[in-house]
Amino acid sequence: MSYEPKREDHFSFGMWTINWNGQDQFGSNSRPLLDPVDIVHGLSDIGAWGITFHDNDLVPFGTKPAERDQIIARFKKALADTGIVCEMVTTNTFAHPIFKDGAFTSNDRRVRRFGLRKVLRNVDLAAELGAKTFVMWGGREGAEYDSAKDVYAALDRYREGIDTVAGYIKSQGYDLKIALEPKPNEPRGDIFLPTVGHALAFIAQLENQDIIGLNPEVGHETMAVLNYTTGIAQALWSGKLFHIDLNGQRSVKYDQDLVFGHGDLMSAFGTVDLLENGFPNGGPKYTGPRHFDYKPSRTEDLDGVWESAKANMRMYLVLKERVLAFRADPKVQAAMEAAGIKELAQPTLGPGETLDQFLADKSVFEDLDVDKVAEHGFGFVKLNQLATEYACGVGVND
Ligand code: GCO
Ligand code: MN
Ligand code: MN
Repeated sequence: MSYEPKREDHFSFGMWTINWNGQDQFGSNSRPLLDPVDIVHGLSDIGAWGITFHDNDLVPFGTKPAERDQIIARFKKALADTGIVCEMVTTNTFAHPIFKDGAFTSNDRRVRRFGLRKVLRNVDLAAELGAKTFVMWGGREGAEYDSAKDVYAALDRYREGIDTVAGYIKSQGYDLKIALEPKPNEPRGDIFLPTVGHALAFIAQLENQDIIGLNPEVGHETMAVLNYTTGIAQALWSGKLFHIDLNGQRSVKYDQDLVFGHGDLMSAFGTVDLLENGFPNGGPKYTGPRHFDYKPSRTEDLDGVWESAKANMRMYLVLKERVLAFRADPKVQAAMEAAGIKELAQPTLGPGETLDQFLADKSVFEDLDVDKVAEHGFGFVKLNQLATEYACGVGVND
């Protein structure tokens, strides 16, 4: 299998990833900013398929309408010239100080109304560019102090904001879905919708939930000490995995945004296994873009920026080759069978079995040799050893 990315691999990058200039809380930028048009061409040259952006990655905050139109026209030309697809658009509701207490959940109603207008304007741009997903990451929606927020009211306002945006999308007839992006903290001390699970529970309360799903990020779930693959698995099970942010994270720290696979390699192996092979017994599969939300490390020069972008795609393709070989190996299939993975797909009650029949079946409970059943080992370690060997490059004949 070739590790050269192709358009049909559907790799996409946030404009803000390539264009992170290294400025952080402790130091100034270590690289110059690039022209968005050059980023589109650069992505095309390295074999990517798509680009995503925040409104202000392309059009600086406060740009006058005539200039905004020119910037968007130039960007559209670059997309047309290269064939790069704008698959997702998102809104910056975190950088400008007006959003210091959030946009949809700011205690200041003027800010909430301004934020909603900014988002709706960007929905129009997303639709104009043919994007299919509208990501909403509420990085400033939260607080540092429990005393600072009425969380009940904040969640009401969050629901009002998201439902208003979704209602607008429907009223305009746009072919666009919203994907909420959970994160536990950073930049706020605590952010609302901190994990996949919280966000799924929130979506269930929304009027327009049919077009609202998730955009889970590797680093964010890891920061919450959670398993990313299990998180996106539940999102898939719920029919809510609309988009993904792939990157690398080494344990619980600040949001590292490393290259995909450069954090927890076995977690990345599990993620690609689920994305490429799907659930072992079938079920919904993720078919959307393979989107990277990483940061080229501050230590890198511009060549290093493009090298790191390529590294994301190469890591994905290397892992794709590994997970396909893993599942195709008869040894692995046998170990999965022995581990009971197929058996888990069997309903616990028999076909047509009534609750009365179940309660009357003494073999289930009264007559069951509990100690005998408890003796049975599952062989999960053997299966995981095989997975780990495949991740290390060991193959079917080794
Ligand atoms: C972060 C987030 C963002 C979002 C982006 C799209 O931690 O900064 O991951 O990069 O993904 O704002 O909404
Ligand atoms: Mn992030
Ligand atoms: Mn992200």
